Amino acid sequence: MKKVLTLTILLAVLASCSDSDTYQDIENPGTGTPTNPTNPTNPTEPAAAITYTKNVKSIIDANCIGCHQSGRSAAFRPLTTYAEVKAAVENAGLLNRIQLQTGQQGIMPQAGRMAQANIDLIVKWNTDGLKEN
Ligand code: HEC
Repeated sequence: MKKVLTLTILLAVLASCSDSDTYQDIENPGTGTPTNPTNPTNPTEPAAAITYTKNVKSIIDANCIGCHQSGRSAAFRPLTTYAEVKAAVENAGLLNRIQLQTGQQGIMPQAGRMAQANIDLIVKWNTDGLKEN
């Protein structure tokens, strides 16, 4: 019986040790808040919000406006200004289109899916509130 008790205590001690603190837990004791890799000087400040001017416009210019501007094949849905791109996210399924797989009906750009980093960025732009600047 004593052996069983000793073993139980030993197991309990081991179990409590197995949930070992990560480097981040030690850096931010108690909170479990991960450090912010994009803003290492201020780990508690969230990363800056994605904005149209800073992050999104260059992706749309490089991948979409070849067709989505006046005189081109998709002139009915221009994507050359903040208001136009925002409206396309809100009313024309832009986020769905860019997240389809290459070859799927409706994928944008039509030639195939963009790099995942670009897609993630535009999705996060929406999450962050579709800010202009
Ligand atoms: C090669 C030309 C071409 C490129 C490049 C292109 N599109 Fe399109 N896009 C079209 C055409 C044509 C349509 C209309 C046919 C359709 O709905 O699939 C369209 C439709 C759309 C629609 C639906 C519009 C509506 O009002 O229903 C969205 C949103 C869209 N594109 C977003 C994009 C985005 C974002 C990009 C860049 C990442 C892009 N497109 C790149 C040609 C293009």
